[in-house]
Order: sequence, then structure tokens, then C-alpha cells
Amino acid sequence: MTLVLGAPGSGKTTLLRALAGKLDSSLKLRGKVMYNAETSSSTPQYLCAYVSQNDLHHPEMTVRETINFASNMLGANNEFEMLGDALQWEMDTSSEVYQDLFSKATKLGKGSNLKTNYIIKILGLSDCADTIVGDELHRGISGGQKKRTTIGEMLVGRARCFFMDDVSTGLDSSTTLEIMTFLQQMAHLMDLTMVISLLQPAPETFELFDDIILLCEGQIVYHGPRQNVIGFFNTIGFTCPSRKNVADFLQEVTSRMDQQQYWTGDERE
Ligand SMILES: Nc1ncnc2c1ncn2[C@@H]1O[C@H](COP(=O)(O)OP(=O)(O)OP(=O)(O)O)[C@@H](O)[C@H]1O
Ligand SMILES: [Mg+2]
Repeated sequence: MTLVLGAPGSGKTTLLRALAGKLDSSLKLRGKVMYNAETSSSTPQYLCAYVSQNDLHHPEMTVRETINFASNMLGANNEFEMLGDALQWEMDTSSEVYQDLFSKATKLGKGSNLKTNYIIKILGLSDCADTIVGDELHRGISGGQKKRTTIGEMLVGRARCFFMDDVSTGLDSSTTLEIMTFLQQMAHLMDLTMVISLLQPAPETFELFDDIILLCEGQIVYHGPRQNVIGFFNTIGFTCPSRKNVADFLQEVTSRMDQQQYWTGDERE
């Protein structure tokens, strides 16, 4: 589980979108994105999930319907798996085989209630499972519940790599901690990859992460284990005061205005 930190505009969203293969077509991408030494084009698309900074839902659907729909669409059922694999590996299949699979998949792909119920329970959405999601015009579930619905929507699929952009927007620090603890347990138990960007995480939330990526003006300043990050900045002359929140220190040390106060290195260097 990796935390992406950086000042606003440092390129967190851009990095996550590039890794998830969802980069804006107006931007140029150099280099290759590899998943477990395989290129992204040879990896099935459903294996990676991107959660954007904003929640986009159908306002008239309830939480349960939303997650159910996502589970059907993301191929959480065997029939959809078959269809997806057929599309991925046997592009030369005759159209009849494809149509047969497709009709099977749409007919049989409904009974995924078990998984949906499980996700709703884990994310604490039981109370609002049958409330409509809502938007500006329709009053629906609260902002935090919406965020959890968004996370549930992608957990229900079969993705192994998760890229989450600023999932804490609109959440208080205790809900963020709760969700992050759950994600950390999932990542460790099921061997998943999670790359999550957060704005100003609380110390307890920060402690949950294994690795840190620190961005500054589009460049990676630090990428490595969380435990080593203070030591790394010590060696280049920046000291974190003992009572300072490490996440805040990392954010400030990359900005030109604030970094002076942490400088304890040799002036001649
Ligand atoms: N399609 C684009 N065309 C031009 N510039 C872009 C495009 N996408 C991103 N940028 C620029 O790249 C920089 C990084 O943007 P990005 O959205 O990745 O920042 P961020 O770290 O996610 O910020 P925030 O924390 O506010 O979400 C910004 O200066 C932005 O204006
Ligand atoms: Mg962003």
C-alpha cells in the first residue's frame, strides 16, 4: 500500500491516471507502464481500478443497485469472466460464439447479491443501502456515504491494482482512518496493490502505509519505505522536528517557501 503525497498541482492525479492507463489524450506519455513485468496492453483492463477525486453516480439508483450494477459490469460473475476472457484472448472468435456468450452473460449475470451484501456490510453502508444516491437536485446519501459507495463499486470487481485519488475529500479524519484501515487489511490479506493519494493525512492514517511516493512539481522526490523517509531527508540536510506530523513535514519540505525552517545542513553544500 503506497501513499502519494504532494502539494496541490504537483501531479498526483496525473501520475495515478498514467498508471491506471486513463491519461488525458491531450497529454504525452513517455516510458512504459508495467504490471508485474507485463505491459499494460497485455493485461486485462478489469485488473486495475481507478477511483477519481469526484464521485460520479446515477442519482436515481440506490446504494445497493449501484454496487450490484458495478458488480455485473465489472464481471464479478463467471459468465462475465468468460465473456471478458473470450474478448481478451480470442479476438478471432466467430461472431456466433461471441453472441452466444454475450446472451448467456446478460441472462445469468444477475445473482451477485452475496458479494454486494458483503461489501455493503464491510463499508458500513447497511443503514443507507436502500436510499437513493442523489445529487445536487435530489437529496440522497451523505458525502461520506457517497465516497464509500464509490469505493464499494470498485472493490466488488476483480481488480488487483487500485489507484485512488484523494479519497478523503469530504470525509472526516476518523472515517478516513476507518476506510484506510479496511483497505490496508485487504491489501495485506489478498496481496493487492493500492496506490492512494491523500491530502494531509492524520498521523494514524499515515502509519498504515508501507511505502511513500513524494511528488514535487511533477518529479518524484522520494519513493521508498515509510520508515526511511525521515532518515532520507536527514541525510540531505532537512530535519523533522520531533513533534511535527510527518505527512505535513513532507508536504512543507518540498515547497520553496517553507523548506528553509527545516534546513539544518551545511550552508556551503
Ligand atoms: N490535460 C492537461 N492539460 C494541461 N495541463 C494539465 C493537464 N492535466 C494536468 N495538467 C497540469 O498538470 C499539473 C498537475 O496536475 P494534477 O491534477 O496532477 O495535480 P494534483 O497533484 O492532482 O493536484 P490536486 O492535489 O489539486 O488534485 C497541473 O499544473 C495541471 O494544470
Ligand atoms: Mg488531483
